[in-house]
Amino acid sequence: ADPLRQVAARQGIHFGSAIANQHLSVPQYRQIAGEQFSAVTAENEMKWESLEGRRGQYNWGPADSIIDFAEQNDQIVRGHTLVWHSQLPSWLNDGSFSGSQLQGIMDDHIEAVAGRYAGDVYAWDVVNEPFNEDGTFRDSIWYRGLGQDYIADALRKAHEVDPNAELYINDYNVAGINSKSDGLYDLAVRLLDEGVPLHGIGIQSHLVSGQVPSSMRQNIQRFADLGLDVAITELDIRMQTPSDASKLRQQADDYTTVVNACLAVPRCIGVTVWGVDDGHSWVPDVFDGQGAALLYDAQYQPKPAWDAVYAAL
Ligand code: XIL
Repeated sequence: ADPLRQVAARQGIHFGSAIANQHLSVPQYRQIAGEQFSAVTAENEMKWESLEGRRGQYNWGPADSIIDFAEQNDQIVRGHTLVWHSQLPSWLNDGSFSGSQLQGIMDDHIEAVAGRYAGDVYAWDVVNEPFNEDGTFRDSIWYRGLGQDYIADALRKAHEVDPNAELYINDYNVAGINSKSDGLYDLAVRLLDEGVPLHGIGIQSHLVSGQVPSSMRQNIQRFADLGLDVAITELDIRMQTPSDASKLRQQADDYTTVVNACLAVPRCIGVTVWGVDDGHSWVPDVFDGQGAALLYDAQYQPKPAWDAVYAAL
């Protein structure tokens, strides 16, 4: 069969994966990552704690390796992520900085990171996970210090530093129409009204098998109708492990639903799965008793979900 990247290209979308530098030494992982996907996202390497564990000392090596891998394999790179409450270095997290200090720290970070990778990334998840489940703003270090303006400020700064990058807000539990995606929608409307450089919405899509929101297509469409791109940025569809044939069939149907929701909306520009194979997935570490969420099993064999994606594309 043709690789997924090729069938996706015929539909005018990219099909990507998160990849992790430390797994690229595994031959099967590396081979699938390079052959099947036309886009990559660094699973951790471009996060603040990875880049600047000590203040002012940037460690670019692992992130640069992701860029090199992408270049070797003719892949576009999604930058992930500039401003987030999680995976921050402890000097920043525990620093008790004033608002104006935080503003400077945020600006400097965007300048350093988006500046270094300008021309290498096609899009940035500028702000990651800014919302609570009820659609209010998450009480993060950024929101506490700077108020909701940190989002517009981060987007403006990123645009100034890399005017060619597509700038996104990215969040989870926003695949369907619900309080959280309503909050995101209202924010997007306000930002666009104010002329803030927001170009896209990232729908992470860490989903549960059998529970793909039925309003997903409609939700993607409403963001597209604002003139925004939409990307499915972190797709995985988890189940209680161990898997069995019927669970894998349900999961395959769920993948079909998600891919079709993206294909139904021309401004949905691509789908990225959050990892290559079930043996290298964040899901079992975080969701107790769950896993088997990706397109390849832990033996690097394509699952029914792979066939479903291929057929949908
Ligand atoms: C996860 C990675 O997959 C893990 O390796 C890491 O330990 C924690 O972060 N939302 C995001 C991603 O935006 O960055 C997260 O990635 C998964 C949830």
